[in-house]
Amino acid sequence: MPEREEPVASKELPGKRVRLRPLRAEDAEPLFEAVESSREALKRWLAWVPGAAAAADEAAFLRRVDEEDSRGESSVWGLVEARTGVLVGVVSLGSLAPAERARGRLGVWVRADRRSRGYATEGARILVEHAFRKLGLHRVFSRIDPTNRAGRRVLRKLGFRYEGRLRDDWKINGRWIDHECWGLLKTDWKK
Ligand SMILES: CC(C)(COP(=O)(O)OP(=O)(O)OC[C@H]1O[C@@H](n2cnc3c(N)ncnc32)[C@H](O)[C@@H]1OP(=O)(O)O)[C@@H](O)C(=O)NCCC(=O)NCCS
Repeated sequence: MPEREEPVASKELPGKRVRLRPLRAEDAEPLFEAVESSREALKRWLAWVPGAAAAADEAAFLRRVDEEDSRGESSVWGLVEARTGVLVGVVSLGSLAPAERARGRLGVWVRADRRSRGYATEGARILVEHAFRKLGLHRVFSRIDPTNRAGRRVLRKLGFRYEGRLRDDWKINGRWIDHECWGLLKTDWKK
C-alpha cells in the first residue's frame, strides 16, 4: 500500500534566509516574546496587539489558527530565520472561505530587531507562491494603512498593484484610518 502523503499544510515551506513552518501550541511563549519585544513597533499598525497581553493570549490565538486552518479559512505560518531557527514573525492568508472566491488576504509581521533584512518580502513571496501553485488561489490582496511605508514597500516588491482607497475603514488605537487596497492576480505572478 502506498504511504499516505502528509497534508501540504503540515509541511515546511523553505526559502533562502527564512522558512515558513506550521505554528504549534509550543509557539505561544516564543510568539509572545516576539510581540513583547516589538510591541511599540507593531501596535501602530496591528489592531490585535493590545489584546496580546500574555502568553495565554497567544495560546488562544494558536487554537483559533488551528480551527480556522482545519475549516480552510486561513493559512497561517511561523516565519523562521533559517540561520538560527528563531521564530521572527508570522505570515498569513486569511479570508480564504468560501472556496469559490479563490482569494486570500495577505498579512505579515516581523519582530523589530529583524527588520529590513528582506524577511517579510521573502516570507510573503513563499506564501504567495504557495497560494497560487498549491492552494489554487486566483487573487491575493492586502489592506494597508496609507502611512505604512515599509508595508507598502513589501507589497510593491512582490508585484502587488494599488487598487484604491477605503475611507475610515478601520479603527485602530482609537482613531479611524483609511485603508489602501493592494492586489495581485495569479496572472500577474512571475517568479
Ligand atoms: C512591514 C514589515 C512586515 C516589513 O518587514 P521587513 O522584514 O522589515 O521587510 P523587508 O525587509 O522585506 O522590506 C522592507 C522594505 O521597506 C523599507 N522600509 C522600511 N522602513 C521604511 C520606511 N519608514 N519608509 C520607507 N521604506 C521603508 C525597507 O528599506 C525595505 O525596502 P528595500 O528592500 O527596498 O530596502 C514590518 O515592518 C512589520 O512587521 N510591520 C508591522 C506589521 C505591518 O505593518 N505589516 C504589513 C501589513 S500587511
